[in-house]
Amino acid sequence: KSKPPMVWHWIPVFGSAAAYGQNPIKFFFDCREKYGNVFSFILLGRRVTVALGPEGNNFVLGGKHTLLSAEDAYTHLTTPVFGKDVVYDCPNEMLMEQKKFVKFGLRADNFRAYVGMIEDEVVQFMNNDASFRIWPMNDINEWGTFDVLHAMSEITILTASRTLQGKEVRSQIDKSYAQVYADLDGGFTPLHWLLPNLPLESYRKRDAAHKKISDLYIDILRKRRENPSDEQEHDMIASLMNQKYRSGKILEDHEIAHIMIALLMAGQHTSSASGSWTLLHIADRPDIGEALYKEQVENFLQPDGTWRQMQYEDIKTLPVLDSVIRETLRMHPPIHSIMRKVREPIPVPRTLASPSEDGTYVVPKGDYVFSSAAVSQVDPRYWKNPMEWDPSRWIDPEGMAAQAYKQYDDENGAKVDFGFGLVSKGTESPYQPFGAGRHRCIGEQFAYLQLGTVITTLIRRLEFRLEGKFPAPDYNTLIVLPKKPRNIMYRRRKF
Ligand code: HEM
Repeated sequence: KSKPPMVWHWIPVFGSAAAYGQNPIKFFFDCREKYGNVFSFILLGRRVTVALGPEGNNFVLGGKHTLLSAEDAYTHLTTPVFGKDVVYDCPNEMLMEQKKFVKFGLRADNFRAYVGMIEDEVVQFMNNDASFRIWPMNDINEWGTFDVLHAMSEITILTASRTLQGKEVRSQIDKSYAQVYADLDGGFTPLHWLLPNLPLESYRKRDAAHKKISDLYIDILRKRRENPSDEQEHDMIASLMNQKYRSGKILEDHEIAHIMIALLMAGQHTSSASGSWTLLHIADRPDIGEALYKEQVENFLQPDGTWRQMQYEDIKTLPVLDSVIRETLRMHPPIHSIMRKVREPIPVPRTLASPSEDGTYVVPKGDYVFSSAAVSQVDPRYWKNPMEWDPSRWIDPEGMAAQAYKQYDDENGAKVDFGFGLVSKGTESPYQPFGAGRHRCIGEQFAYLQLGTVITTLIRRLEFRLEGKFPAPDYNTLIVLPKKPRNIMYRRRKF
């Protein structure tokens, strides 16, 4: 039994850190050419084994959690930011219960209340943000310009705090807490994953910010208990306050606080990156911007010229909007490498990779294993013209995506459901921007609601064009972001 092939490198401990860090997708495709679906590389002293393709995704995400541990892979990054006793700082069974508690908060009757709130925040932002003031422009033909990531980051935190985080957090977020939040965020980088504790300013600020934000939530919980309001809150704090573990233990205040921080961090960069890439592509393809606008006009413009308020249920019935988001997540999944740590030696299925006809690779204990949907989602084996942003591939049942799935099903005997939100469920799918298996994202529906409402609120009022070249991805952050310059031009629509 042998270990998977090792990627050749010059410098012993440093290994392939530069190639992986600069462009992990290119690095993985290049390695697959040389070594096949499964290979190992050195990342600053760590051994990483990568498993590619749908079967590789399944190997990593469908593996037993007792053998492939997410908490061992992530806790040193996440625990200083989120805090103790939640997510990856507790046994996996507890995380599964915590995910159930959060899911209870992410339910339809809460979502119904969110659409109007999100729309309201976007319009307020357009009126108030210094770099994005549209209403003072009188000349309807005048083009303005804004940095798309700046706008989407602000809009994401404003809308998430107004809805999930609750009114107390919303009222603090654009005041004293903006800097505290930025400091906490500064502790959520690849450097902090590699080296969790250094005597540096960013680490000190991270720890101070964690304490301050955690105390903010604990204070909110105390005040809500002291002064129960008759008004029903639709936020996550209200949902978590009533939850109990199966053992009968209630969620303690610090646990609720830490779950709230985890949700803030889990949703912020993923959604702001996805929103930015979506707007960049819309700006690059004005014909699709117009198709989105037309879809809005047909469904929501009333005879008196005013817009009907979009409802939560409506979002699922808008194929152009749905396919635009879906296609953007195909080309730009925010998380390019999903990681687990190997607790016991694991044999690699022979159909995925093997050293010889009767041999088997074994991934040794202590390795990290990585899967990468970012690779399978642009793999020409599964997608026609994978580097082309083409939302229509999701709409046309005879179109490219449907064809790709059919071909994939035929070859593998697999069944991939093609319905809304279902494509990404299987651990062996080539399309999984939200992951798969027991650690799968529970924020997908919220992310679709948030992105869908933000995009439609903007598209109803504005036209977009790209200012310069389409920006390249920056892989130096944990979440793949568009590099600067990433300016978009916009103009008010004539009603
Ligand atoms: C897990 C992607 C938004 C909460 C994940 C995973 C991915 C992902 C790939 C799997 C990680 C792994 O297996 O290691 C995304 C994308 C988003 C998004 C692309 C937006 C476009 C959100 C939002 C929330 C959220 C808005 C919260 C409201 C979570 C949680 C997990 C998770 C709680 C589970 C972690 C675990 O079980 O280990 N997400 N996410 N995500 N996400 Fe998201």
